[in-house]
Amino acid sequence: MENSLPLETPSLSRRQLLNFLTGAVVATTAGAVLYPVVEYILPPVESGEDGAILAKDILGNPIPASQILAEAPGTRALVAGLAGDPTYLIVEENSGLNPMGIVNNCTHLGCTFPWNSVDQQFQCPCHGSRYSADGSVLRGPAPLPLKLVHVAVKNNQIWISPWTELDPRTQAKPWWV
Ligand code: FES
Repeated sequence: MENSLPLETPSLSRRQLLNFLTGAVVATTAGAVLYPVVEYILPPVESGEDGAILAKDILGNPIPASQILAEAPGTRALVAGLAGDPTYLIVEENSGLNPMGIVNNCTHLGCTFPWNSVDQQFQCPCHGSRYSADGSVLRGPAPLPLKLVHVAVKNNQIWISPWTELDPRTQAKPWWV
């Protein structure tokens, strides 16, 4: 004899709802697990508005701002900046970075140079040019001040962007623009 009692089966719409809810739980759980993994695998955004790029180390890895800011005030820290140009960042007394970075490229014939903390000058070893702390020429043969870039710290990242406004040292249009 056929059982006349109706089987208690979920209606199609109820089943769909259960499937949807189960799928949503699985997706949420998977998302929570995978997000840190994906964030680790994907490289961080390395370029921003106005041609800004992240300051990088010699291996091409972005440098956390905390790493530079751990240095003593007055430190000139070299990073790879725009187009890979070696660029000096200046650690300030207030544990911030000077918003003006100085490109380590002598305007005479392009040598790189160290910062002399005793003389408070950039001193080019190739032909003796000297620059003040802001990159102005103190002694030739360098004909022009050092190229500037903007420096900004956001979320422990150091952003470097082109300096296209007036050169604050000469009050003139920058020679590199
Ligand atoms: Fe620096 Fe000549 S390249 S002084």
